[in-house]
Amino acid sequence: MADNRIKFFELNTGAKIPCVGLGTYGAKHGVLQNTVITAIKVGYRHIDCASMYNNEKEIGYALKKVFSEGMVRRQDVWVTSKLWCTDHLPEDVPRALNKTLQDLQLDYVDLYLIHWPVSAKRGAMVVKGENLTQPDIPATWRAMEALYDSGKAKAIGVSNFSEKKLRDLLELARITPAVNQVELHPVWQQPKLHEFCNSKGIHLSGYSPLGSQAGENVRKKVLDNPFVKWVAQEVGKSAAQVALRWGLQMGHSVLPKSISEARLKENLDVFNWFIPQEFLPRFSLIEQASESFVHHTYGAYRTLQQLWDGEI
Ligand code: A2P
Repeated sequence: MADNRIKFFELNTGAKIPCVGLGTYGAKHGVLQNTVITAIKVGYRHIDCASMYNNEKEIGYALKKVFSEGMVRRQDVWVTSKLWCTDHLPEDVPRALNKTLQDLQLDYVDLYLIHWPVSAKRGAMVVKGENLTQPDIPATWRAMEALYDSGKAKAIGVSNFSEKKLRDLLELARITPAVNQVELHPVWQQPKLHEFCNSKGIHLSGYSPLGSQAGENVRKKVLDNPFVKWVAQEVGKSAAQVALRWGLQMGHSVLPKSISEARLKENLDVFNWFIPQEFLPRFSLIEQASESFVHHTYGAYRTLQQLWDGEI
């Protein structure tokens, strides 16, 4: 795809999700409010949140300010949030979204996702070890569908789901997930999942598009990757911009995080240029690497292969 004007992707609901969103995981308290306001000022129209990030109140203050000061209208900002693993029980799902809406000071979210195909005891402080439980995705999804029906979530989807888990879900879903949000960057490309989601009309959204999720090491591998750096030099952009633009040309939205105004701007400057088509196949030669949470005794997944159903 050599379209250099992509600003939105269309979901199976007909809604348009802005291609670049601001990731908010791990943002330092006290900084995030300003970051969100700055991001809106420089042109971001998509904020990716989650109750697990424990910062939705701060984001809510920022949103309240930008809306009340007329900087931007509610309907022009896309807000995503996610159901945490401790809230999978059907009766907990609406309560969790209500809490998120209260914290974000919103009447609805544009997209609500099951954060992981992993469940844990209600109220557990950490999602590991003996707190892990057996997920019942069909039951949780039915509760998500009810949120969609209520209008409090304009679209619903999942996050960190493999092709197998999506296939299982599609068999019983009344409402097809609009989005699967997963880790995606040149060092973790997930091509098979990509193909499957495309074939089912499920939009893929990429978190940690600069590779930060698995720690400093992998991010370094993305931004220091010799091929990514070479492309950056060829197109006269930074390695980060190439990683993001690669994502857009693959057809997925990207959710970079930054607290720096200069980098927020840099990460949004990915529209009026493109990576030449002939460079794209060479991205698939980049060695792949990632990490994720599994446990040798508790919960449903002993190994990364199990979590991803042998698809990695
Ligand atoms: P900072 O907040 O100081 O800008 P990811 O989006 O993959 O999770 O990566 C986020 C990390 O990448 C943060 O540490 C962020 O640091 C850094 N980062 C964000 N944008 C850029 C950029 N354009 N160039 C280099 N590092 C970046």
